[in-house]
Amino acid sequence: MGLEEGSTKKHTGFCESGKCSVVIFVLVAIGIAVVACVTFLFPAVRTTVPPTETPTTTLTWWQTTIIYQVYPRSFRDSNGDGVGDLKGVIEKLSYFNDLGVGAVWLSPFFTSPMRDFGYDVSNYTEVDKIFGNMADFDELIRTAHEKDIKIIIDFVPNHTSNESTWFKDSRNSMDQYKDFYIWNAGKTLPNGTHVAPNKWISVFEGSSWTWDDVRKEYYYHAFLDSQPDLNYRNPAVRAAMKDVLRFWLNKGVDGFRIDAIPHLFEHVDLSLEERPGMSDAFDPDRYKYTKNQPEIFDVVREWREVLNQYEGERFLVAETVGIPQEERQKYYEAGSVPFFFDLIPVARGSRGCPNTLAQCYLTRIIDGMNLKGAQWPNFVIGNHDNRRIADRIGQEYADAMNMMLLTLPGTPTSYYGEELGMRGGNYTGFQPKDPFAITSNNPNNSRDSERNPMQWSNTVNAGFMDGTGEPWLKITANTEYPRVNVEEEGKVNGSSLQLYKELAQLRARPGFRSTHIEHPEIFGEVLTYIRGVDVDKYLVALNLGLVGFRLDITQIGYSQGTVVFATNFSRKNTIIQLASFHLQRGEGLVIKL
Ligand code: NOJ
Repeated sequence: MGLEEGSTKKHTGFCESGKCSVVIFVLVAIGIAVVACVTFLFPAVRTTVPPTETPTTTLTWWQTTIIYQVYPRSFRDSNGDGVGDLKGVIEKLSYFNDLGVGAVWLSPFFTSPMRDFGYDVSNYTEVDKIFGNMADFDELIRTAHEKDIKIIIDFVPNHTSNESTWFKDSRNSMDQYKDFYIWNAGKTLPNGTHVAPNKWISVFEGSSWTWDDVRKEYYYHAFLDSQPDLNYRNPAVRAAMKDVLRFWLNKGVDGFRIDAIPHLFEHVDLSLEERPGMSDAFDPDRYKYTKNQPEIFDVVREWREVLNQYEGERFLVAETVGIPQEERQKYYEAGSVPFFFDLIPVARGSRGCPNTLAQCYLTRIIDGMNLKGAQWPNFVIGNHDNRRIADRIGQEYADAMNMMLLTLPGTPTSYYGEELGMRGGNYTGFQPKDPFAITSNNPNNSRDSERNPMQWSNTVNAGFMDGTGEPWLKITANTEYPRVNVEEEGKVNGSSLQLYKELAQLRARPGFRSTHIEHPEIFGEVLTYIRGVDVDKYLVALNLGLVGFRLDITQIGYSQGTVVFATNFSRKNTIIQLASFHLQRGEGLVIKL
């Protein structure tokens, strides 16, 4: 207001001269022309639709399923020790059938001192006692297959635990294992102080080199000092890790999720330093010499060859956090699917998301679809390293977010509990359990919240465990879990769980089994797109904004449709006039056109 008043005053003299009306006329005419053009060309914010459409007939199991991530520690504890286990997963196998999920990815359950809750493996071919034993795993895979559920397991090739016998032998320079890890003497100053070979920083903060007093050398670790990196320039390491793959393939696993793959190699020239002051994990030069090195793809190709020696289609999905677009192509070409993580950092006002949420998602969805030939897209919105959707975006958006994930092209990956709209645990004031928070001395780095126990029922400990023991992470949603749990939501029409199940069914329709998407657009903060083919087309509309919004979407060539799925159950089966319909904040509709 103040500015407008100021500007009027400023121009009074010019207007008095009489030239003002001519200028205003010209400006108004230009303005009208621009608005007309923009309205004609861009009724909403439009983007280019990737032209590819994959034939629906030749798809394999991992292209047509939903992948559901189970973090075994937190899923279901069958023996009341407070930690989830394999028997707990077996108990719940029918749940995956009910959900409409055809593949389960299990985070690590291998023998481990649990410094990083299993991402520090001390024996790759054993089941850790806390999770059960090998007989349990055999039963799990047999029963899962009987129920038509594929099992994908975590493969943690970048590093072992420092308690692995490989590392122990390497510290002692035992012949076969001498060069299994990345050792370097660094420098020793005249006063006897040891100085690391360079200033490379670990992902979990602090130097990525730790001095070992047994071997009298430094070893390199991309993550914790208890997670020494294997040396992939040593053929014996490559052979040993291929044997690990064969071990589990022989047990019948259907695929692997490859942990931390961009960290597999470090530059050979240890004198190279990152630019000084690079504390910023988002800087493309961050980890320039310790991430995304070209040799990675030779190793992925070798793994793919191992998998190809087994019957059926075995799946390799790579944990590719923070990789550039060109690198994604290379993962595909090497025979793996790189997880598309770019939807995860999107949050209101977050870094990398200067615009509205809908705009951010739209841009990233288009990026995610920007693939070559038959490369198959995939989308992920949560996992054990990131805040739950209900906390990151808001609980009232949780259903719309599931609607987005399950209606986008390609393979979706869901994190356990997200189908309920579950919040993460609130562990403020608790001593963090996550080593990242502990080593960095920063509770904000803690991933405990998203690893909170699954909520199965309204009984004590939300049915995560029987009895009155304490789960490894407390259930903090004391007022919420009596409502937000599998048993209760199973009974309530219109619950998050019911909606999830319905959307899972929708994915079975032929039009959802292609990469075809039309009209990805935004109207204000409403994200829209059309999926489906021929006469079986669906408009998805998701209001990700903070306020309600009325839109006219007739330009897509349809005037009305019927709501088949809705975050607000009462709208189901209603007819929508596409010239004017309203969506509350957080509301999502799937409209049959
Ligand atoms: C990625 C995993 O997702 C994360 O949980 C783990 O801490 C690191 N890799 C190190 O293994």
